[in-house]
Amino acid sequence: MHLIDTKHLKKQTILKLFALASSFKKNPWQTDLLKHKTIAMLFFENSTRTRVSFELAAKRLGASVIHVDLASSSMQKGETVLDTVLTLSAMNIDGFIIRHQEDTLCQFIVDHLKTPAVIINAGNGTQSHPSQALLDAFTIHEHKPNFAELSIAIVGDSQHSRVAHSNIHCLQNLGVKDLRLVGPQNFLPDNDLGCKLFTDFNKGIANTDVIMMLRIQKERMKSSDIPDMTEYTASYQLNETKLKLAKADALVMHPGPINRGIEITDAVADGRQSVILQQVQNGVFMRQAILQWLFEKRI
Ligand code: NCD
Repeated sequence: MHLIDTKHLKKQTILKLFALASSFKKNPWQTDLLKHKTIAMLFFENSTRTRVSFELAAKRLGASVIHVDLASSSMQKGETVLDTVLTLSAMNIDGFIIRHQEDTLCQFIVDHLKTPAVIINAGNGTQSHPSQALLDAFTIHEHKPNFAELSIAIVGDSQHSRVAHSNIHCLQNLGVKDLRLVGPQNFLPDNDLGCKLFTDFNKGIANTDVIMMLRIQKERMKSSDIPDMTEYTASYQLNETKLKLAKADALVMHPGPINRGIEITDAVADGRQSVILQQVQNGVFMRQAILQWLFEKRI
């Protein structure tokens, strides 16, 4: 009924979302399921692709979309996020797409909601960004559908990355066995989350099918944890030479925003193996699939 996390999404559900996303890719305008529905977007953190692609997805399904201007909302007068959502839902808003810095905000809202509105997590804190993980998995599936055989490396600041956390759960639910987290020790999560941990970049990406690069989330770190960028780049940047360590047909992924010249070189980001813009393109179709799946149950 809501999309809060990927942890509890069964393989069967994820495959159903892939099929829906695929059909939207063939025909984006196939349904107006959300005609007469209103979706409110509440983004407490910056966003380009997630915000725009959710808006496009909702509009393609016929919804009206409202952007709540948080800077001029009553939150500036001390109203809580929950009261803001309850106030808007009293006006019969049908769905809320929410990005927030707290890990459990969307679940908290679901627990207190008084109307049947759908809650969709568009990125919460460091822990969950389910629509990104689903569009990433869908992109992998288009190239390499046999998840059980894949070796996938997630490289960089996985500890602070909600994209990494949601991807780990999603890929594990899809049956990926060789899932690796690669980065300096203080970027790796305290708990291995069922992944293999590597501080050695070369070993971590050796022979992989997919390399997912991450941005360093400086805004979520204590300043003492921010690495020296020259050292970080020397050890963990994906360049053309390092990419040769992975399989010849390995996919290069990045959820964006990219910090060019830090975690990835221009040549790799724009190269033959990069599917970064395909991820962005698929983001709209996967978000259409998510909206269709959640609202179909309601209508
Ligand atoms: C990410 C996010 O905001 O979690 N971006 C995204 O949604 N595509 C990753 C990031 O900010 O580095």
